[in-house]
Amino acid sequence: MPARHHWITRAETSADIPTIRDISLEAFETPLEADLIDALRADSSWIDGLSIVSADEDGEVIGHALLTRCHIDETPALCLGPVAVRPGHQRTGAGSAAIRAALKAAKDMDEYYVTVLGHPTYYPRFGFTRASTHHIGLTIDVPDEAMMAMTLDKTHPLPSGTVRYAAPFGI
Ligand SMILES: CC(C)(COP(=O)(O)OP(=O)(O)OC[C@H]1O[C@@H](n2cnc3c(N)ncnc32)[C@H](O)[C@@H]1OP(=O)(O)O)[C@@H](O)C(=O)NCCC(=O)NCCS
Repeated sequence: MPARHHWITRAETSADIPTIRDISLEAFETPLEADLIDALRADSSWIDGLSIVSADEDGEVIGHALLTRCHIDETPALCLGPVAVRPGHQRTGAGSAAIRAALKAAKDMDEYYVTVLGHPTYYPRFGFTRASTHHIGLTIDVPDEAMMAMTLDKTHPLPSGTVRYAAPFGI
């Protein structure tokens, strides 16, 4: 089992942009996610401060998590993803650290709702639950358990509705 590390998390700076692209190219089978991140950065759905990197103690960036604006019907929400970690460092906490820091940064900005389309065994640890139980749906067919959502503030329960992604997602 890989050693556990202490991950430093922070918002991306312009100097991180090539590294984030490189991590996504390595972590995913196709360049689609890397291209998506670049397209989102140029889109109105981008929110400065919600693209988070995790770095090791030497400052080397290893992981990345991104939150961008989406809507649940008309209600503003955030979409988590892509999330990626350099293959040689996966399962050492870099992904979790970036996700937790991104969720905290969003909460600090008074954002309430976050959705994610991804591994149903990974995201519940952050507080995500199956979107369909909240009557949140999508315009495309995905496995029910892969679409998840959470509220960052228990006094603001998730709204029901259809997730409308930012245009670069093409959903
Ligand atoms: C998925 C990913 C972001 C997780 O980041 P990570 O730093 O490797 O994961 P962490 O160390 O924070 O967490 C480890 C946990 O993630 C789980 N995990 C890692 N990859 C997973 C996968 N592909 N499917 C399901 N769970 C996964 C591990 O089972 C582990 O669970 P455990 O703690 O119960 O043992 C990373 O593995 C990655 O970049 N994968 C390739 C790209 C990808 O699939 N991105 C997500 C798209 S939804």
